[in-house]
Parts: sequence; structure tokens; C-alpha cells
Amino acid sequence: MSQLIIETENLNFSYTKERKDIENLELKVPKGSIYGFLGPNGSGKSTTIRLILNLLKKQSGNVTLFGEIFNANTRIKSLSKVGALIENPSLYGHLNALENLKIAVNYRQNIASERIEEVLEIVKLTQAKEKKVKAYSLGMKQRLGLAISLLSNPELLILDEPTNGLDPKGIIEMRTLIKELNEKYGTTIFISSHLLNEIEKVCTHVGIIRDGKMLYQDTVKSLKQSKSKNMIVELEVDSVKKTIASLEKINKKNTVLEDSFLQLEVGSKEEITFLIDLLRSENVNVYQIFIKNNLEELFLSLTEN
Ligand SMILES: Nc1ncnc2c1ncn2[C@@H]1O[C@H](COP(=O)(O)OP(=O)(O)OP(=O)(O)O)[C@@H](O)[C@H]1O
Ligand SMILES: [Mg+2]
Repeated sequence: MSQLIIETENLNFSYTKERKDIENLELKVPKGSIYGFLGPNGSGKSTTIRLILNLLKKQSGNVTLFGEIFNANTRIKSLSKVGALIENPSLYGHLNALENLKIAVNYRQNIASERIEEVLEIVKLTQAKEKKVKAYSLGMKQRLGLAISLLSNPELLILDEPTNGLDPKGIIEMRTLIKELNEKYGTTIFISSHLLNEIEKVCTHVGIIRDGKMLYQDTVKSLKQSKSKNMIVELEVDSVKKTIASLEKINKKNTVLEDSFLQLEVGSKEEITFLIDLLRSENVNVYQIFIKNNLEELFLSLTEN
């Protein structure tokens, strides 16, 4: 098994006596992964991140970072290898990006001033570095926040909902950046989100949390495979009537969605081929077939039970 960059064991946390906000959480984030931490609002994502970063004091369990149990002795060394972007980055609006980065460098130790130009380049803000931050779009501010967290050249980057509030262009830019950081520099990235599609597009691994409990944790590939054992597919055909008649002959249940669309469940991809052959042999034209269930549906099925 590959090395784990973040590992939690039996992590528990409650803000109040009434309930557990994080319950026996076992996170396993492999080195080099882009790990998507998924959950609906209030499920405990930000709380978990605060516990990992020691911004909240855990009540029981262990957090292991880079293979070392996180405690008073390992704290500084471990955190020096972590970059984090949580909530809105605190930026000075009346200053430009360069000046904001200089202040951030002064707050930290052992960062060469040349690193400023490097991180500006990475987040693609070189052109805009002398523009006042109050004139930045939200996406640009978010990227500047990311640049600050990259100053120390972290091995692990923790991002709490980095695409929240961004427009589609900003979301794509952030996604591209995350992938680049992972591919070019081998940075392990832990990213929280409540958007399945987002996670599906960038992540290699996924953990799904609800009510403070981990519901599923695996590779995104396995998640898709385990789900695809029973697939919902949608068909577009020229005749719904003929299609229903053909499907009835083999006792295949289906639902008509609209005009020329039907939905049915299949057990395998081979069954899809079988169905196409069957319909073609009955002179039904099949225009499209889509496999409908993706992570989004898995997410719903996992969170709605
Ligand atoms: N400071 C606090 N005091 C008391 N309860 C809190 C506090 N912060 C969070 N909570 C509660 O803890 C639970 C987990 O919240 P958390 O912010 O970790 O969720 P989240 O998954 O990050 O949600 P979101 O998607 O809205 O950011 C929620 O029920 C929330 O109301
Ligand atoms: Mg949150």
C-alpha cells in the first residue's frame, strides 16, 4: 500500500454535548493523490480540516501527517510541509498581489523572495501582479490565496471548497491549477467540496462524509466501478411503442421519460449491447444511449438512506 500523507484514526469531535460532529473518522489520503472530501452542507468537512490542521483541538483519536503522529513535538515540522486555503483568504485589498505576497513572506520563515515570482507564475497572476487586489475577481483572489499557501512549497495542500462562489471560468481555472500542481510538483491535494461533478473531474480518491461519519472511501475509479454493477441507462429511440413491445418480450422493466426517451436498469455493459441488438432486430432505431448514474447519483444514494 502506498504511503499515507494524512491518516486519522478514531477521530472524534463535538462542538456541544448534544451531538457528535465528527464520529470515528478514519481518513486515508495516499501520497500523490488528489483526494476529494465530499459531503453536504454541515456534514463536518471544515471541522475535519480544522482538526487536521490543529486549529481545533481533537477530543479523541489520532491525526498522522507524513507518517508521524501529530503532537506538540511534530507539529511545527509537519505544518511546515502543509499549505492550506480555508475560507476566504485574508488579503489586503488596497495593496497589489506582489505586496500581499511580500507581507506573507515576512510572516513566514525561510522563504526566498524569488519564490514570490514563482508562485505568481504558477497561479497565473504574473500579468496582474501590480493590480490592486480590490479590483480582482473572486477567482483571482482565490488564486492569490492559493499562491500564498504555495510560498512554502508544500508537499500537501489542503483546500476547503476552493471553487465556492466562483463562476464557471473561475472553476475551470482552479481545476486546471489543482491538476497542474499535482502532476508537475507531485503535491498531494486534499480538497473538500459538496459538488460531486467537481470531485469526479479532478480527484483520484474520494471520501464521502455525512453527519460526521465516513460513508465511503476509495479510488474514484472503484467508486464508479462498484456503482456501475447496476446501471441506469437512458435510450433515445424512434418509437417508444415498439421499444416497449420488444422489452416486454424479454420481461425487461422500463420507464418512459418523454417522447422518445426511456430509462431502464441493466446489470452490465454486455447487456447494453444485447438490448441494442434486440431493438435493431425489431427495427427500432436507437439514437442514443447514456449511462445515467455517475458519482452524483451515488452521492445521493449514499446520503439519502
Ligand atoms: N463553531 C461552531 N460551533 C458549534 N457548531 C458548529 C461550529 N462550526 C460548525 N458547527 C456544526 O458542526 C457541523 C459540521 O460543520 P462543518 O462546518 O464542519 O460542515 P461542512 O461540511 O464544512 O459544511 P459546509 O458545506 O456548509 O461548509 C454542523 O452541524 C455545524 O452546524
Ligand atoms: Mg465547510
